[in-house]
Amino acid sequence: YDYDLLVVGSANADLVIGVDRRPGPGETVLGSDLAVHPGGKGANQAVAAARLGARAALLARVGDDGHGRLLLDSQRAAGVDTVGMLVGGAPTGVALITVDPSGDNSIVVSPGANARLTPQDVRAAASLFQASRVVSAQLEIPLETVVETVRSLAFDSRFVLNPSPPGPLPAEVLAACDPLIVNEHEARFLLGTSAGPDPEDWARALLLRGPRSVVITLGAAGALVAAGSTSSFVHVESPRVDAVDTTGAGDAFTAALAWRLSRGETLADAAAFAARVGAAAVTRQGAQESFPTAEEVLVR
Ligand code: RIB
Ligand code: NA
Repeated sequence: YDYDLLVVGSANADLVIGVDRRPGPGETVLGSDLAVHPGGKGANQAVAAARLGARAALLARVGDDGHGRLLLDSQRAAGVDTVGMLVGGAPTGVALITVDPSGDNSIVVSPGANARLTPQDVRAAASLFQASRVVSAQLEIPLETVVETVRSLAFDSRFVLNPSPPGPLPAEVLAACDPLIVNEHEARFLLGTSAGPDPEDWARALLLRGPRSVVITLGAAGALVAAGSTSSFVHVESPRVDAVDTTGAGDAFTAALAWRLSRGETLADAAAFAARVGAAAVTRQGAQESFPTAEEVLVR
C-alpha cells in the first residue's frame, strides 16, 4: 500500500469568531477579530494523520478561489498527497464557527464545492483506493458519495466512518464500518428516542445496526470501544487538559485511530492513542493548527 490513510471528505474555510456567549434568536453580540483557518472534517483528518507521520491522501473538492488555495496549501504543508483534490464546480465550502470561553464551538457549514464531490469523482479515484490500507469518511459530502466510497474499498482495506454531522445511514455503509466512531450527539441521533443514559447500551444498540466495531467518544471521559462481541467493552482514558478550542478534536481522534489501525494495532490501543491526540488538539486554537506530532503526544 502506498497510503496508510485515504480520507474522502470535506474541505472548508473556517471563519472563526470568539464570543463571550452565543446570540439567541434575533439577538446581536460583538465578538473577537475574525480568523480564517483551513478546516473541514475531511481536510482536518488528512492533516492530522500526516502530522502524526501517516502517508495520507485526501479526496475532496474545493472551489477555484482563495479559500480553495488556502486548503490546498495547508494539505501540502502537512505532507498530504493532494492528487485527489479536485478544483471547481462551486465556491469552496465555508464553516461559520463561534468559540466560547470554555472552548466549545458552534458550527454552521455551507457545503459549496463539497456538495459537488460525486460518486463519479470516487470512481475516477479508483487507483487511490487500491493503494490505501485504511479509508475514512464523514458526512459533509453527499451520502451517495459515501456509499460509492464503501463500494470502492480495496479487497482487504478497512473503512472508518465518523457520521458527522449526523444523518441517516444505509445498511450498506453501516456494514462497512470498522469502526463507526460517534460522539454522544451522533449516537443519540442514530438511536433516536430509544437511547438511554448508558454509553454501553448505545454501543450494544449500534452494533446491532451492522458495523463491525463501534467507538463512542465521551470528551474528557475518554472513549468506549466495542469490537466483535456485544458483551465486551474497553474504556479508554483521556488525559486531563485545559480546553482552549475543541474545534477539530474529533477529526484528530478519528485520523489518529485510523492511522494506528493501518499499522496493525488493536482497536483499543488505537483508541487510547487517539484519545491523547484529541486531548492535545483541544489545548490549542483552531483545528488543523492545533494537531500534534507523534512526538508531542508521546512526551505528554
Ligand atoms: O470538525 C471541525 C470542522 O467542522 C471544522 O473545521 C469545520 O470546517 C467543520 O467542518
Ligand atoms: Na483545537
